[in-house]
Amino acid sequence: MAPATFQQRLLHWFDQYGRHDLPWQQPRTAYRVWVSEIMLQQTQVATVIGYFDHFMARFPSLEVLAKADQDEVLHLWTGLGYYARARNLHRAARIVVAQHDGEMPLESVEALTALPGIGRSTAGAIIAQSTGRRAVILDGNVKRSLSRLHAVEGWPGKPAVERRLWALADHYTPQRRVADYTQAMMDFGATLCRRSQPECGRCPFQQECLAYARHETHRFPVSKPK
Ligand code: ADE
Repeated sequence: MAPATFQQRLLHWFDQYGRHDLPWQQPRTAYRVWVSEIMLQQTQVATVIGYFDHFMARFPSLEVLAKADQDEVLHLWTGLGYYARARNLHRAARIVVAQHDGEMPLESVEALTALPGIGRSTAGAIIAQSTGRRAVILDGNVKRSLSRLHAVEGWPGKPAVERRLWALADHYTPQRRVADYTQAMMDFGATLCRRSQPECGRCPFQQECLAYARHETHRFPVSKPK
């Protein structure tokens, strides 16, 4: 599909149905986007919202977080699970204060992925959402949508399949409105192109979706071979 067509339809869908009032969208600072993206790695938006608000009330800035005791950070994380996320967040905040003068290193994906807990897709999401610069994301939602649209065969855990998905994600990422595009891709995957019972009847890409044409949306992304 032509990238311009994909972007236009996705953003049109997002303007009508996307989430525009998430707490980390206003104000949209790198610190707030970072904390939200770490919380959202394994937890759904509806659950994250309450935790995010509490976290920001107690740790309103990266400096405050860096100065806190790890125990207190873990305490605020109680119930979210995957506690390595909280420990990495806290360690990363201390590194940013010690090595980057307290400013998130937003100059490149590489600078961000050097911090504990930030992978390539999370780095892309932080750059796109907090600076508006073009950066590519490929989280679980995006993998599912793109593997359906293109009927990408093979388990995404295989390096060759993952490379193909990154190439597709890059192909569709626009030069402008990147923050909205990134949020739109995540909202699209989370709400329409869901893992089970996707709402293909309301999808702006139904005509182009290879998985839909083959009645095989359930088969993508392909599961891990046994
Ligand atoms: N999952 C990861 N990041 C997200 C975001 N910004 N919005 C919704 N779901 C997400």
